Amino acid sequence: MKYPVSILLAAAWSAAPVSALRDGQALTPPMGWNSWNHFRGGLTEAKFKAIANAFVSTGLRDAGYKYLVIDDGWLEAGRDAGEGLITVAKNFPSGMKALGDYAHDRGLKFGIYACPTKTTCMRRMGSFGHEAQDAKLFASFGVDFLKYDWCGVQSGEDTAGVTVAEVKRRYVAMRDALKATGRPIVYSMSEKGQGTKGIEPGTWSDTVAHMWRIGYDIHENWASVLSHANENADLSQYASPGGWNDPDMLEVGNGDLTVGENRAHFSLWCIQAAPLILGNDPSAMTDAIKAILVNREAIAIDQDSLGIQGRRIRGKGALEVWVKPLKGGEKAVLLFNATAADASIEVRWNDSLMGWKADALADVRDIWNAKDIKGAKGGYAATVPSHDAVLLRIRNASATGLLKSGWFKCLGRQVLSRDANGRSDWNRRTPAFKAP
Ligand code: GLA
Repeated sequence: MKYPVSILLAAAWSAAPVSALRDGQALTPPMGWNSWNHFRGGLTEAKFKAIANAFVSTGLRDAGYKYLVIDDGWLEAGRDAGEGLITVAKNFPSGMKALGDYAHDRGLKFGIYACPTKTTCMRRMGSFGHEAQDAKLFASFGVDFLKYDWCGVQSGEDTAGVTVAEVKRRYVAMRDALKATGRPIVYSMSEKGQGTKGIEPGTWSDTVAHMWRIGYDIHENWASVLSHANENADLSQYASPGGWNDPDMLEVGNGDLTVGENRAHFSLWCIQAAPLILGNDPSAMTDAIKAILVNREAIAIDQDSLGIQGRRIRGKGALEVWVKPLKGGEKAVLLFNATAADASIEVRWNDSLMGWKADALADVRDIWNAKDIKGAKGGYAATVPSHDAVLLRIRNASATGLLKSGWFKCLGRQVLSRDANGRSDWNRRTPAFKAP
């Protein structure tokens, strides 16, 4: 019997094996806020509520930010008579369930922090050996997101003798404990290669977590932002819908980053399909910071459903060009100026990962400047101020109607293959055909 090619290809797609954690969560990079970068261990219930309210009033929620995550500092150092975790009552007198309800009542989601070690980095109680009990408690709070953070050196705990296999076992134990609660909980692995003594998290995280920190902590300065973007630059093969590299929580709005640096920082995270977890105080942000964070066109690049982490095609550490293929054949391009002087940066349509004809015509949307350039031939150049970025969304205007037909869409899907772990193969996910 003969079936149309489209049906055969669709069947091949749906029959692709999926990994243990492909549970339909985090199909785009998670978006939200975490208390650590701005408040460290000093968050209070009143502040949490103010931030939840700000999420609604500033439009952050409606722009897509959902998870409000309370980081280290919410736990006491001991356990109660029933071996349960104890919330710091001084800072959170109503308890965690009330804060979960507060977030949910406002159309938001609730997240919390715990550790697979005996102690947290602030030397509070860890979940080691209590995974099932603690996961149940988190679920009873209404938790929708768990950051599970490896703490050794920072907490003073001696983890030197903990084997790599044991580190992995502990992360899997909490994954399974969360699953056993029956509550959908996004699992954010913050192991950083620290417990595994330098093993790249992306090599084993895919079946364990929905997102994973790729390195040590970000700080509110330009050098730190750059080094985290750099560290993530060559890890795109590990990211795909349901599992994301996490270059750490955003510092947009913190420290002395200029508006241009904040814009570049946010753009780098968007082109890298990084989780957008804010780290500022959204209840006290300036209009300039808000304008960056709620820009829907920038967010749409991060959240593109193809789920490809963009790559830097040239200019490392200087005049950088990044490309991120988007659903439907469009390309996001980041022109990023890491140098100390303003400069012109150009992308060519036949550049690597662009893959269009050298003389193609394309329509360019300059996102931060809200400017449209129609029919740009061969490429596009922009003057980019020092420590700033121009973020573009580009459509090949030379493409014929055929490219938009079901046939080509179908072929486009077929190249988005996955390996046995359900992880997509980046190279095969780039369009397999050249525009005419
Ligand atoms: C580690 C993590 C940070 C934060 C702190 C809390 O350093 O990497 O993101 O969670 O612990 O103590």
